[in-house]
Amino acid sequence: MSPSPSTTAHSLPPAGAWTRKDLVGIENLSPQEITLLLDTAAAFKEVGTREIKKVPALRGKTLVNFFVEASTRTRTSFELAAFRLSADVVNISASGSSLSKGETLKDTAKNLEALHADMIVLRHSSAGASQFLAERLQSSIINAGDGAHEHPTQALLDTFTIREKLGRIQGLHVAIVGDILFSRVARSNIHALLKLGARVTLVGPSTLVPRTFEKLGVTVTHDLQSVLAEADVFNLLRIQHERQRKEYFPSLGEYTALFGLTKARAEQLKPSALIMHPGPINRGVEIDSDIADSSRSVILDQVTNGLAVRMAVLYLCSTAAHHKHPSPSQP
Ligand code: CP
Repeated sequence: MSPSPSTTAHSLPPAGAWTRKDLVGIENLSPQEITLLLDTAAAFKEVGTREIKKVPALRGKTLVNFFVEASTRTRTSFELAAFRLSADVVNISASGSSLSKGETLKDTAKNLEALHADMIVLRHSSAGASQFLAERLQSSIINAGDGAHEHPTQALLDTFTIREKLGRIQGLHVAIVGDILFSRVARSNIHALLKLGARVTLVGPSTLVPRTFEKLGVTVTHDLQSVLAEADVFNLLRIQHERQRKEYFPSLGEYTALFGLTKARAEQLKPSALIMHPGPINRGVEIDSDIADSSRSVILDQVTNGLAVRMAVLYLCSTAAHHKHPSPSQP
C-alpha cells in the first residue's frame, strides 16, 4: 500500500486527479495534469532542503533506468529521484544488455517486468518507443526521451523553472532558439508552454525551423534580432548532429554568427529575461561561454529542478499504477 502523502513531503497536492500509470509525452496531458505535476514537484523540492533528503513514498518499489542512448542529467536525476523516494534502482545501458545480442526492446522490457520492475524509465533513439512499451506492459513506463519526438520531464523541469523564477507561465513570451526540427525538447516544451498559456516563438535557420511548425500554434522567425528585446525567456538548443543525416547550415561559425547568444546580443535582452539551456551545452556555438555562466542564466537551476520534477513523475505514476493494479494480497 502507498504511504499517505503526509509521510512523504509537506504540502503535497492530492494525487487523485492523476490517473496515468505512464508518462510518455506532454501532448496528451491536460493543463490541469501539467499543473498538478508542477505543484507536486514544488512540494518534493522541499525534501531536497532537509538534512536527510529521503521520504518513504516508493519504499518496496523497483525502478529500472533503461537508457539506450547516452545521458548525464536525465539518467542521474531519475536515479537520485528514486533514491530520495526510497525505491530500489537498477541501471541498464544498451551496450551492457542483451539488446546488443539482438534481443528486441519488447522482450527486454518484458523480462524486466518479470523481474518485478514497477517502473521503467526509457531513453531510446526511436520515436514512439515509450508508447509502444506502455501499451504492452503493466509496469509504469516513463519516457526519458524518444528520438526527436518528446522529452516530457525536460519540458516539465523547464516550465517549473520558468514558473519558479518569473511567478507564472500564462502570458509570457518564450523564444526557443536553434535546432527545432530534431529536438524532442522543443516539441515537449511547445506543448507544455502553449497548454499553460504562454506565447512561443521558434527561432533558427529555415532548414531547422520550417514554417510547418506554425500549425502547432507557435510563431516562426529566422531573425533572432526580432525577438531579442521582446521575449521573457530564451531557451537555447544544441545542434543535434547525432540525428542529422545531412548538413542543415553551411558551418557552425555561420550558425553562431546568426543565431548564437553572444555577449552583444545578451545586452539587448529585457533585464528580467531568463536564459535557459537543457544541456549538454556546445559552448561558443549556441551560447557564449560567459553568458552560460552569467547570473541571468538558470541552466543549473533547471538541472536542480529536474530532480524534484522526476520525483513528482515517479510518485504520481506509481500511485496511479498501484490503484489500477492492486496487488493480489489485498482484499
Ligand atoms: N537535457 C538532457 O536530456 O540531458 P542528458 O542527455 O544529459 O540527459
